Amino acid sequence: MATAQGGADESTRSLRFTWFNQMLGRFPVGSLIDLGSGHGMFARAAADAGWRVTALDARGDRYPDDEPRVEWKVGDVRDVDLRGFDVIACLGLFYHLTLDDQLDLLARASGTPIILDTHVANDRPVPMKRSLSELVTLQGYTGKLYREPDQATNSPASFGNDHSFWPRTRDLYMMLGAHGYDVLTATPWYLPSRTFFLCLPQLDG
Ligand SMILES: C[S@@+](CC[C@H](N)C(=O)[O-])C[C@H]1O[C@@H](n2cnc3c(N)ncnc32)[C@H](O)[C@@H]1O
Repeated sequence: MATAQGGADESTRSLRFTWFNQMLGRFPVGSLIDLGSGHGMFARAAADAGWRVTALDARGDRYPDDEPRVEWKVGDVRDVDLRGFDVIACLGLFYHLTLDDQLDLLARASGTPIILDTHVANDRPVPMKRSLSELVTLQGYTGKLYREPDQATNSPASFGNDHSFWPRTRDLYMMLGAHGYDVLTATPWYLPSRTFFLCLPQLDG
């Protein structure tokens, strides 16, 4: 597999792993599911740290073939049972889902910490600007619709949905808060519109 972060430059790649490892390191070692695992590098990093790891992706073509410590599964995150995991990793996936599917995922995750790495809709420059709509408000959440690239030729893309939702930062916090999460945000952001969010179940949640 595995050059495989889709051409991300080295400093971006390095900062992503820094945030992932720092956030994961806050928890006692246990079980983790890596949603939209793709190339599997974060699943592998968690296994390196001693975690029992399940990787899930709708496409298994980028999975490494030399990593027996990880349980590699092909499936849709919209169907998966998230109960029983100590931590959920959701890296580079959330912004490929519709708002309905994002809210459903958060409902199923609720009560379990999430390491979330996603784009938000803000005013900073992004290369995919032409694929983003003007601000829309759906179900009380404001953000932009992202027109997904051709899914047949672009394996990091969405699976089945041709548009996804990028909430504004404050709306992402609202979505997470409504599902019982407090949020810590990694700075510096590794892209103008994208960073890691550590989503912790509220103590009284
Ligand atoms: C941008 S890649 C992220 C890969 C890796 N997690 C990372 O952050 O570098 C998005 C991944 O999500 C997967 N994906 C998109 N929609 C999915 C769905 N509904 N169910 C499972 N996987 C999905 C894609 O196949 C792709 O591998």
